[in-house]
Amino acid sequence: MSKPAVLVSRALFPEVLERLRRHFEVEDNPEDEVLDAPALRQRLQAKQGLLAAGGERISAELLAACPALRVVANMAVGYNNIDVPACTARGVLVSNTPDVLTETTADFGFALMMAAARRMSEAERYLREGRWTKWRYDLLTGSDVHGATLGILGMGRIGQAIARRGAAGFGMRVLYHNRSRLPPDTEAALGAQYVDKAALLAQADHLVLVLPYSAASHHAIGAAELALMKPTATLTNVARGGIVDDGALAAALRAGRIAAAGLDVFEGEPAVHAELLALPNVVLTPHIASASLRTRRAMADLAADNLIAALTGGVPPTPVNPEVLAAARA
Ligand code: GLV
Repeated sequence: MSKPAVLVSRALFPEVLERLRRHFEVEDNPEDEVLDAPALRQRLQAKQGLLAAGGERISAELLAACPALRVVANMAVGYNNIDVPACTARGVLVSNTPDVLTETTADFGFALMMAAARRMSEAERYLREGRWTKWRYDLLTGSDVHGATLGILGMGRIGQAIARRGAAGFGMRVLYHNRSRLPPDTEAALGAQYVDKAALLAQADHLVLVLPYSAASHHAIGAAELALMKPTATLTNVARGGIVDDGALAAALRAGRIAAAGLDVFEGEPAVHAELLALPNVVLTPHIASASLRTRRAMADLAADNLIAALTGGVPPTPVNPEVLAAARA
């Protein structure tokens, strides 16, 4: 029997490609070319599976143009790049990579928050530019993280991992807001208190965003929300571009309506709002929150596990729309 054909949309660990080749005819992308919609459509012709890097838009139109496609294994925990209902309607299984990146992403979120609070990037630029000529009592003074109030918007796995760091490691008071409230025993174990969104914005010294992107969370933080925050507060986004109105954030940072921000994700990335690039009080990183070598390898392995299981009659470990599997078995 011939092997199923799959596309690996972007460059990937050679060991993972090798593993995929044991099961599939693999078309890979060693040049790591970013595939636009026509290129993706063309390369997906007659492919049963796609290992996507998370940035590709999987739309109803693409699915209609690629009728052989059975599985989209996204190498990311977020899957807002994929029209999941359209996939489900066509019997296309979607999988993501939860759990394996939780702690690594929480580490980075915490680091970004600390870097914003303590003006780490600004301080390094100051030093590298040769401006450090003497000690001064208020040189690059920032705000404390320990003992401060940590606000978490979105309290899934990554939010909870950030809460644990804040409460256990830094003695922070942890407030959160989420679509659904956690069970009381989970709240107690985390030392986290549920508040409404307005209270979260008003009380947080350091607000961290870890909610999924959807139409409902588009511009969840805009001018009105920023106006509720403390002028001394920091805002950190390790979730998705588009959750924050980047123009409104730049205006707030410029006007001192909040003190600083740490951003790993942007509206329209890899482009970054020109005003953010020009501001000193924002730490900017290129969407690398999950990027420890070990975790990226675990994400690639999990995406491959899903692809292999789904196309060889196994049980995919982390499906997003498992109803597709149930329907196929019925
Ligand atoms: C990265 O942004 C992810 O969703 O895993």
